Amino acid sequence: MRTYFHSLESLPLLLLFTLILLLGQCRPDPDPIQDYCVADNKNAFFINGVPCIDPEEASSSHFATNALSKPGNTSNVFGFSVTPTNTVNLPGLNTLGLVLVRVDIAGNGIVPPHSHPRASEVTTCLKGLLLVGFIDTSNRVFTQNLKPGESFVFPKGLIHFLFNRDSREPALALSGLNSQNPGAQIASLASFASKPLIPNEILEKAYQISGRDVETIRRNLGG
Ligand SMILES: *[C@@H]1O[C@H](CO)[C@@H](O)[C@H](O)[C@H]1NC(C)=O
Repeated sequence: MRTYFHSLESLPLLLLFTLILLLGQCRPDPDPIQDYCVADNKNAFFINGVPCIDPEEASSSHFATNALSKPGNTSNVFGFSVTPTNTVNLPGLNTLGLVLVRVDIAGNGIVPPHSHPRASEVTTCLKGLLLVGFIDTSNRVFTQNLKPGESFVFPKGLIHFLFNRDSREPALALSGLNSQNPGAQIASLASFASKPLIPNEILEKAYQISGRDVETIRRNLGG
């Protein structure tokens, strides 16, 4: 009897301990253990990140880039282009746990519903009128219209989108993400344009559509 009560009393503590352990698994990129780790892009082996050059060799140019200065090419089915900083065009960001992304969206173009498995994202509208939003894991939707200077945050891993509400003028947004390798998965492309293709039967059942619908969507998406 005594031991029974003992184990009941320790149950909340056990649950708390388990929760802390689980939360410990959802970490952002690890903190750097030196001032910087300028990416050594000539190296051909893989670690969790990119190896660094000798700190003595680091120069200001490793921490600067003009990669985001030019508009991207938005001539694609969705009408958007994403230009990220990364360890190649900005070697100094290696291990710092962040990237900045330029997002160009043509008139009425869209960055279709997608998610970043390793990062939250905060986006600022610089030009144009954007409708942005995300869907949480209970399928609740949060949307917002953004004018230049206004920002919105997309929580880590949740499906989100950006739409240019203006049919003529291009829109421009700048996004910061808290991983040096956020990853991106576009929901429609993952379903209908994967390599190799997911069996039609899966998509017919998942989306409750016919085999012809699957083919049509595949063709439209270039799958
Ligand atoms: C943009 O991409 C389209 C389609 O890939 C291509 O035909 C066009 O030449 C590109 N435009 C520029 C300015 O690079």
